[in-house]
Amino acid sequence: MTNSEHHPSAGHDHHHHHYDHYTPEMAARLDGFYGRVDERLNERVARSVVGESVLDIGCGFGSLTEHLRKRGFKATGIDLLAEGIAAGKARYPQADLRVAASEELDFAPATFDTVVLKDTIHHIYDEGDIASFLQSVRRIARKRLVVLDPNPMPTLLLARKLIGHVDPVCGPKDAKRVVEDAGFKVSSVSYSDIFAFPLSGGYVGPVLLPRSPELLGSAMLALDSGVLAALNAIRLGRFAGWRYLLIADVEAS
Ligand SMILES: C[S@@+](CC[C@H](N)C(=O)[O-])C[C@H]1O[C@@H](n2cnc3c(N)ncnc32)[C@H](O)[C@@H]1O
Repeated sequence: MTNSEHHPSAGHDHHHHHYDHYTPEMAARLDGFYGRVDERLNERVARSVVGESVLDIGCGFGSLTEHLRKRGFKATGIDLLAEGIAAGKARYPQADLRVAASEELDFAPATFDTVVLKDTIHHIYDEGDIASFLQSVRRIARKRLVVLDPNPMPTLLLARKLIGHVDPVCGPKDAKRVVEDAGFKVSSVSYSDIFAFPLSGGYVGPVLLPRSPELLGSAMLALDSGVLAALNAIRLGRFAGWRYLLIADVEAS
């Protein structure tokens, strides 16, 4: 009689997004080996941040916002998913985490010295108006934009196929183009994370290395960094790294 079962998502979020897997329960992965991989990514971003104030757009559970706070920055994280922000506030009571969409960046011009996008740009690239979004970012960023995102190289794409994970991509070349169109100047692109990341499962893959063997985890992270440094030295990092980090600065006018 009722048709309601034909519309299981009626009344839910009006956006169609590729991060429906990004549920509050996934925050538990931060307690496993992925937590260590994530921490290392956060530290890479922290080393690229300039100034004092930072806005982390699409912050999810806010692990990066919290990391930046602990490093002494004045960090604010925003995300459109209220459940993620709620889970993040429970995990990190001291972090400044707020529910807001990238379309509503109603901050005064040059409010933040640095704006960071960690695993966020591919969503807005695919689902939103990337040009107008980056113009807003340009307006509120005083000095720098840091983008960390999946590097669409063969192994990552194959792994996604194997686990049936569908996600849009915005590779380093596309990111560089759209960021420079908005008036930033890209100063560096670097690559990281070869096998520690896939072993951890990230937020979406099978967990191949649990947290328990602490030493094994440390050895994996050290080996991962070492191998990638060697590959980067011979300019092959871009074919092996699961993540790229792009640094772009506001052009002096
Ligand atoms: C893959 S998750 C990454 C979360 C976090 N930055 C991290 O690295 O763990 C992408 C996040 O971007 C958020 N997001 C996507 N589009 C957004 C938009 N237009 N405005 C604000 N947040 C957005 C999603 O809600 C999701 O939490």
